[in-house]
Parts: sequence; structure tokens; C-alpha cells
Amino acid sequence: MKAVVCGASGGIGQPLSLLLKASPLIDELALFDVVGTPGVTADLSHISSVAKVTGYLKEDDGLRKALTGADVVVIPAGVPRKPGMTRDDLFNINAGIVRDLITGVAETCPKAFILVISNPVNSTVPIAAEVMKKAGVFDPKRLFGVTTLDVVRAETFVQEITEEKDPSKTVIPVIGGHSGETIVPLFSMAKPAVDIPADKLGPLVKRVQFGGDEVVQAKGGAGSATLSMAYAGYRFTRSVIKAVKGEKGIIEPSYVYLPGVEGGDAIAKEVGVDFFSVPIELGPSGAESAQNVLSSVSSEEKQLLEVCKRDLKGSIDKGVGFVTTSP
Ligand code: NAI
Repeated sequence: MKAVVCGASGGIGQPLSLLLKASPLIDELALFDVVGTPGVTADLSHISSVAKVTGYLKEDDGLRKALTGADVVVIPAGVPRKPGMTRDDLFNINAGIVRDLITGVAETCPKAFILVISNPVNSTVPIAAEVMKKAGVFDPKRLFGVTTLDVVRAETFVQEITEEKDPSKTVIPVIGGHSGETIVPLFSMAKPAVDIPADKLGPLVKRVQFGGDEVVQAKGGAGSATLSMAYAGYRFTRSVIKAVKGEKGIIEPSYVYLPGVEGGDAIAKEVGVDFFSVPIELGPSGAESAQNVLSSVSSEEKQLLEVCKRDLKGSIDKGVGFVTTSP
């Protein structure tokens, strides 16, 4: 199992690479970035775990060398938010970075599972899909937008109400997109069920939708969530790898191209957009099936979904247009 991290020297890339290096599920770990990989690689290579670590810069065909033979490619490359910025403000820089990295994937390891962390996820995943389509190698079951941090935040923040000792024991589906009001946590479907007083539900939903802002503000210009994102990115990567290795029953919400995933076409028609996050059953070929949870949402959640769908459409069109209108 070879995993590659693109953007490995960054705030997310470093702790994510550390967690991947420590995982016994990974045999080879390749680190790619435009700066800093020799240092990060030397440092991680002293850890006495299974994975063999190699590092590459852009020079000397580094991207191709890093990606050769990759099974999983995780992408936290690009600029993060500063106070006052939305994820969409990152589009101008990150769109080109993701396009170029995915072009490398299409040429070098088109069958790899691609996990996109770079924001705005609502647009960068459509960009990745279009690049793979253009190259004739798009497999929707292998492309994921990582929205796990929203799930992790929902689990954590609801603990203040449930007082459950281990917050990760409460499963809460989070659907839609990964930005502000496109993030729709479905507390009505929590397992085990949680009883949230009416006056607390609205603030809780808002906190999940805008939890990233708390970190951006607290860091005061030094970036956005990195450590919690590294944890979430590792958790999702580990789930994909475990499912690929044959473990059954692994379900994780993820932002995917729904018409290409079993059960996803009907959901795409219902929500009116093709890229959307729902709980996905993972398996050896990636996204095995999409779970339609829409019929069970509460009336409050229905209203949240209306706002989500409206906002998502523009972000998806922007991502698709970025690739289809460029030469
Ligand atoms: P950072 O600035 O600390 O690190 C980004 C890294 O990407 C840097 O090391 C930089 O050199 C590298 N990079 C830039 N251009 C590159 C290229 N062409 N190829 C390879 N590497 C390149 O940023 P941070 O905090 O690690 O965030 C990275 C991205 O993740 C941002 O877009 C951020 O918005 C996003 N993010 C996504 C979350 C999610 O839930 N999906 C949560 C938090 C952040």
C-alpha cells in the first residue's frame, strides 16, 4: 500500500504524514511539496514504523516520481484561509494547484484513490473530476472530497449536550458540501439517538457549519485548522485503505460525483447537483454505494438543505468551468 501526500510540508501535510507514517496499514509513504520535503522526509524516516518514506520537490520530475505506483493520493496542497476570508476566496490560487496535481495523477497513477482536502472542496473536487475526464481516466468511485472534519466537529460539539464520554462513539451523518451553509449535519439521524433541546439545535448546527472560523480567528492570520484536519484526513484515509483491503461495513460521508456511484444517481436528481456529500459505503473499488438519507431528514434539516443546494450549484459550476473553458 503506497500513500502519497501532496502538500506534505504544510500545516496539515506534516501532521497527516506523521499519522500515515505511524500507521501499520501503509508500506510506502511518498511526500511531495514545492518546499521543505527533504527535511520532513528525513525527520519522519527516523520513526521505527513499517512505512518507507521518500520525499520529492518539483525539480527532477519529483511529482511523477512521488506518484509512481501510488494506491492512495491525499491532497492538502494550497493556501489556507486568513481571518475574514471564505473558502471560495482561495479558488484563484488553489484551483490551479489542484488541476496540476491531478494532471500528474491522471498521467502517472490513474487508478489511485484520490482524496482532496484543498479548499474550496466544493469546487476542487469538480476540478479534479474534469481533469480526469479530459484525460479519459475518470473513475467516480475513486475520487473523494474529504469532509470528515465536519463529521468530527459534529461528534465533538454534540458531546456538550449528550455528555457521552467518548464523542467518536456518536455517529452523525453530515451531508451537502464543505463550506458554511452547504454543510448540513443531520442530528436527527444520530446513532445512538440524541435528544437536543429545540433552543440548542440552531446554535449547534451553526457551530458545525462555521466551526472552521473559530480556528481561523484563534490563529489570528496564521492559517486554518491543521491538527484537527490532519486527524480527520487520516481517519478518512484509514477507512478507504481498510475497505480496499477487504474490511466490510465501513461507511463515511464524502463529497463525490454521485451519478458515478451506485445509488447516487437518484440522490443527484433529488438534490439537483451532481457533486454532493452523503454517507458512502466503502469497498475494494472505492465508493461502492451512496446512501440516500434524504427521505429521513427532519423539517428543519429540509430547510438547511434548500440553502445548501442553492449555494453548492455555483461552486460546482465554477470548478467545472475552470477546466472545461481552459485550453
Ligand atoms: P499550508 O499553507 O500550511 O500548507 C500548504 C502546503 O501546500 C505548503 O507546504 C505549500 O508549499 C504546498 N503547496 C503549494 N503549492 C503546491 C503545489 N503546487 N504542489 C504541492 N504542494 C504545494 O496550508 P494548510 O493549512 O496545510 O491547508 C492546506 C489546504 O487544506 C488549504 O486549501 C485549506 O483551506 C485546506 N483545508 C481543508 C479542510 C477540509 O476540511 N477539507 C480543513 C482545513 C484546511
